[in-house]
Amino acid sequence: MRPTIALWAAVLFLGLQLSASFPDSIVDRSSQNLTSVPGDLPHTTESLDLSCNHIQKLHRGDFRNTPLLRFLNISWNSLEEIDPETFLDTPLLEDLDLSHNRLKNLSDQRYLLHADNLLVLNLACNKFLTMTLGSEFSSLVKLERLALGAKNISVGDFKNIAEVKLHTLTLSLEDNVGYEAGSLKDVHAQKLQIALTRNQKIDHDLLADGLSLFVELELINLIKGYEDLSNQLKARKEIYTSSLYLTNISIKWTHLTYFVNVVLNTSIAHLYATDVVLNELPQRDTDVVRATTTILCPAVAIALLIMILCHRLDVPWYMRMIWKWTRAKHRARMRQVRPEDLVGIEFHAFVSYSQHDADWVHNSLIPNLEGPSGGLRICHHEKHFVAGKTIIENIITSVEKSRRSLFVLSAHFVKSEWCHYELYFASHQRLAQGSDSVVLVLLEPLPQYLIPSKYYQLKSMMSRHTYIEWPQDRAKHRLFWANLRAALQADLPNAPVTELED
Ligand SMILES: *[C@@H]1O[C@H](CO)[C@@H](O)[C@H](O)[C@H]1NC(C)=O
Ligand SMILES: *[C@@H]1O[C@H](CO)[C@@H](O)[C@H](O)[C@H]1NC(C)=O
Ligand SMILES: *[C@@H]1O[C@H](CO)[C@@H](O)[C@H](O)[C@H]1NC(C)=O
Ligand SMILES: *[C@@H]1O[C@H](CO)[C@@H](O)[C@H](O)[C@H]1NC(C)=O
Ligand SMILES: *[C@@H]1O[C@H](CO)[C@@H](O)[C@H](O)[C@H]1NC(C)=O
Ligand SMILES: *[C@@H]1O[C@H](CO)[C@@H](O)[C@H](O)[C@H]1NC(C)=O
Repeated sequence: MRPTIALWAAVLFLGLQLSASFPDSIVDRSSQNLTSVPGDLPHTTESLDLSCNHIQKLHRGDFRNTPLLRFLNISWNSLEEIDPETFLDTPLLEDLDLSHNRLKNLSDQRYLLHADNLLVLNLACNKFLTMTLGSEFSSLVKLERLALGAKNISVGDFKNIAEVKLHTLTLSLEDNVGYEAGSLKDVHAQKLQIALTRNQKIDHDLLADGLSLFVELELINLIKGYEDLSNQLKARKEIYTSSLYLTNISIKWTHLTYFVNVVLNTSIAHLYATDVVLNELPQRDTDVVRATTTILCPAVAIALLIMILCHRLDVPWYMRMIWKWTRAKHRARMRQVRPEDLVGIEFHAFVSYSQHDADWVHNSLIPNLEGPSGGLRICHHEKHFVAGKTIIENIITSVEKSRRSLFVLSAHFVKSEWCHYELYFASHQRLAQGSDSVVLVLLEPLPQYLIPSKYYQLKSMMSRHTYIEWPQDRAKHRLFWANLRAALQADLPNAPVTELED
């Protein structure tokens, strides 16, 4: 145990050093009514957020103080002009978000000539009339993701990125777009995303090219035209696309079942639908089963089950929870836990929480996990911390003796220093034991900006949505507890719980 503590202490020291350097490398100057790039940026800036300001122009030298800049977000400004030499001083720049500005001419983006390290470029939602990409795009040899939007798309528009091997091309289409068939032939990308706004249907030729040129196709915000879409899929002889994604969609139940039926008849191997709003669900008393007997797909069987469970309730919430629950169950089945990994593990989980949330933890969380329906062993500081040891020692022992660490997130948690040490240690444990050793429970909505930027780990875990939300609605509590128990369940050796001493 002693050498481990020395190691942890070294890690802690390193951690403090690292977190001390965070505030200077990540600079957030968004929403500050800025009209130009501020001159006082720290020399160490690697990530700069200037979004939601009123900047109209970028000049040569605006970034001369930030030679380490890698990430720049300048979306939601009023940019009309960018000097060709703006990025001369930032050779490392790899992620540039220029979306939601007033740039006008896609053939005239010469600043890109000095941005040849870019991996991600977002130019969506500007004022481009045509999609004609200028020759400067051919210098973006490392580019992986490109997002664009324009009113008209014609053949030859993409010829300047024909040599660039993209991962994803995103077309963000605001109004009804004029698309000339064959325009996307010059694009080499694994995935095409088409994001629609304002109640549009998807253009017939655009969809046809998407299905014949890209391995993956994602349609975002599609809320109408599913019958046409199904009929178009049905009429096609050959489809190159093997994975079709539908994201943030709203669809009638009958259209969905018809669509799935059509997809089953094509060569499309994977159909993913996320953030689905189902409309006009069949009534409970109509014979649902007979209405859908033609469908033999397991995915639809699951959809049907969910539908019966969630009849007229908050469908997206239930779908998310059931999805998480099935995944947790699946992972528990698939995971081969080696017995040596469990040596010394006495608890299913160590709970870290702010004192302000202690009531909830004692009256709801612990009874529901440790009680008869849970049967889990939970370690928490009030019961298991040993007086006489330092807090750090107690945290380390608790994390080490627990299979997982559970964090109860709230505004108070974010403010508590100790909770962050606990998160810090647990994340290191996580590196050693695999990605699912940290479980986050979100007790109340927690906007990203409340989290201080030095708590980088927490921010990134939150942004990946790897947490379970505590629902306000009582009717949802049972599913919440089932979900949480599934996430923590593990067969531990039946060792008696000892005091946390060696
Ligand atoms: C920005 O300007 C608006 C209106 O002029 C004002 O209400 C707001 O407080 C300003 N915000 C900041 C951060 O200065
Ligand atoms: C840039 O900032 C905007 C507004 O704050 C945000 O919506 C967007 O996601 C940010 N872009 C990236 C790439 O993080
Ligand atoms: C766009 O920029 C190109 C290259 O600078 C120029 O030839 C063209 O006339 C511009 N188009 C418009 C509509 O301003
Ligand atoms: C866009 O396309 C439409 C029809 O193809 C055409 O009438 C219009 O002139 C085009 N607009 C521009 C700016 O090229
Ligand atoms: C999802 O779609 C709805 C309309 O159906 C839209 O209001 C909302 O902004 C979309 N969300 C995202 C993240 O695009
Ligand atoms: C699927 O294909 C079969 C045979 O090719 C056809 O009989 C059936 O009507 C098709 N179903 C749909 C929904 O297109």
